[in-house]
Amino acid sequence: MLSDDLPRFADPDTRAIPLRILTSTALDGWLARQEGAVRDWVAANGFEARAGQILRMPAPDMSVARVLFGIGGAKDRARKRFLVAEAAAKLDAGTYALDGEMTANQMEEAALGWLLASYRFTRYAGKPRGAARLKAPKGVDAAQVEAIAAGEILTRDLINTPANDMGPDELEVSARALADLHDARIEVTKGDELRAGFPLIHAVGRASTRAPRLIDMRWGDEGPALTLVGKGVCFDTGGLNLKPGASMGLMKKDMGGAATVLGLAHMIMATGMKLRLRVLIPAVENAVSGDAFRPGDILTARNGLTVEINNTDAEGRLVLADALALAAETPPDLMISMATLTGAARVAVGPDLAPYYTDDDALAMALNHAGHRVRDPLWRMPFHRPYEAMIEPGIADLDNAPSGGFGGSITAALFLDRFVPDTIRYAHFDIYGWNPAAAPARPKGGVGQGARAIFDSLTDVLAS
Ligand code: BES
Ligand code: MN
Ligand code: ZN
Repeated sequence: MLSDDLPRFADPDTRAIPLRILTSTALDGWLARQEGAVRDWVAANGFEARAGQILRMPAPDMSVARVLFGIGGAKDRARKRFLVAEAAAKLDAGTYALDGEMTANQMEEAALGWLLASYRFTRYAGKPRGAARLKAPKGVDAAQVEAIAAGEILTRDLINTPANDMGPDELEVSARALADLHDARIEVTKGDELRAGFPLIHAVGRASTRAPRLIDMRWGDEGPALTLVGKGVCFDTGGLNLKPGASMGLMKKDMGGAATVLGLAHMIMATGMKLRLRVLIPAVENAVSGDAFRPGDILTARNGLTVEINNTDAEGRLVLADALALAAETPPDLMISMATLTGAARVAVGPDLAPYYTDDDALAMALNHAGHRVRDPLWRMPFHRPYEAMIEPGIADLDNAPSGGFGGSITAALFLDRFVPDTIRYAHFDIYGWNPAAAPARPKGGVGQGARAIFDSLTDVLAS
């Protein structure tokens, strides 16, 4: 379900209106180099290059000769990502070309922000915006930026689609469409077939009339091996430990991990990275019925570990456990899981930062650096081993929901880590997948987190 009107840069030969990006500190120097009439127009309109300020400059025939766009000071740019996307949203139809003293990173941020500025979730109502088009700035890899935007848009559409139209079936259909687009292979284990090999996925998903399944997609046959695992809980009622209404409201987004790894997979496949990719998605609905799994049940995971269920709302770690165990049977060079796993992660770092866990310092350095470069903010969290005692109930190997709730995101990560052998390079992302307040290039709603940073770091990470 990759949208058929994905944003593209304008043809490089089209005539474009210059769009001059100015910081507030650069404005005076720039004005000094302009004719008096330009200085007068800028002064008369009170243009100070404040963040988001826009000024159209008329030609003698009163058409728009060029446009100035302010991006304020360093503090403004630290506060808001993708500021240039505000220009895309404010400008009239036409084709624009960026100019100004920007670093390569800023150019790339501006170009991606522009493409993402037109995104709206329009499946049920409304129209996409984005009459203003941009010529790909020189030095920016246009095809790559378009692939990143397309991946991000796929993630957003998947998350925004409500659970009535995005159950395990529809998530499978979307994964198959992506696989078809890139000639990837896909295998699905579904319903009762899960009983033997994937008991936890089956247990969590069996209460729903919409059959649980494990989606296994593979692509590429040369280079290092990367396995991505994404939580695909299409709706999380909490199960018998039913969530209160206010907490259940947003739970269509509980397949945000799956949506994000699919978006990342698109970026990798569309740009033809030389690697062997595998994407595993346990797709289930955590529903309530007479057949639902219960608090107190003790289940045996794919790898033989027994798990005492202390809360049916801690379902994400269960379905991921079986998928991670399968992933580990064919050890890749790098394994990454992404999941809307805990509310505790949000309490710790808020909706904007993607907290992640890894024992590998070099991987963490590369991820942090990339997150900074591409403005996909990440925060490393600790796999703090002393807390493992909290997930050991005694009556079984593991407890899915330690009482007390201390360090909830950490204990969830430690639970997953039990399914990944120490010999495998592994990172786990506890993402939120939702932007609660509109920002440039990021409307309120589903949003990818971490994928762009991972994509940016992959070449280096897999070479080392
Ligand atoms: N999908 C939720 C986590 C979640 C909640 C993510 C809100 C983002 C926003 C997950 O399945 C869950 O319910 N986790 C529980 C775990 C607890 C029962 C140990 C939680 O975080 O409360
Ligand atoms: Mn839950
Ligand atoms: Zn959940």
